[in-house]
Amino acid sequence: MQPSKLAGLILTVALTTTLLASAKPGTIPGYTYGKPLPTSPVSLEMLADIKKSLLFTADDEKYLRMSHDVLKPQVEDILDVWYGFVGSNPHLIVYFSDARTGKPNGEYLKRVRKRFGQWILDTARADYDQNWLNYQHQIALRHHRTGKNKTDGVSSVPHIHFRHLVALHYPVTATLKPFLSKGGHSVSEVEKMHQAWLKSVQLQVILWSYPYIKQGDF
Ligand code: HEM
Repeated sequence: MQPSKLAGLILTVALTTTLLASAKPGTIPGYTYGKPLPTSPVSLEMLADIKKSLLFTADDEKYLRMSHDVLKPQVEDILDVWYGFVGSNPHLIVYFSDARTGKPNGEYLKRVRKRFGQWILDTARADYDQNWLNYQHQIALRHHRTGKNKTDGVSSVPHIHFRHLVALHYPVTATLKPFLSKGGHSVSEVEKMHQAWLKSVQLQVILWSYPYIKQGDF
């Protein structure tokens, strides 16, 4: 992609932020967390075991919840960083492009961005119940060819490749730390919030792997 087009794209994405900051869950198109959804194929018992494997404890839930109010006023700034990263990598922005023209679909980016912002707050709420599990599976399907593009009715590329889903765990969580440190908490609390985020995002990437994995192998 030409640098001028890239700058334009990043600007377009950044300009949507003022509107998005005030979005309420009920007004976010395609956001169906808490609505009646198919039951996740991952059970609450399996979830509990994955948490144990990840050393994810009640303390992590506590520190995720501590991060909520730290991150809430910074959601749009965080999204600027993450979208800037995706937007500056042609091999990633392609997943938001129109399959026919190859150009990034600004409307698609905008709609997903709203749900992504809400996801930051949902992750920080750390309510790991059946509703959360069910919506996790919807997010999984939305990255996979089973469900990608359907929520927003777009004609983008049909599937996000698994390798990038796993790889993005690092930039998403590494870039969060400076934001966690802006809430006036001690160095030790910031570190604990960050560790909790590392685990929570890994937990979610594991759940989102489900449709990519051969039946019976999850
Ligand atoms: C740790 C890795 C990742 C995280 C935390 C993440 C997070 C999210 C979230 C929260 C959503 C919105 C879910 C909803 O509909 O409520 C989403 C959707 C989406 N993500 Fe990711 N994502 C990751 C990896 C990737 C990668 C590698 C790509 C490729 C560029 C990508 C591209 C997309 C696209 C295109 C959508 C919209 C899918 C659709 O509904 O059509 N994501 N992601």
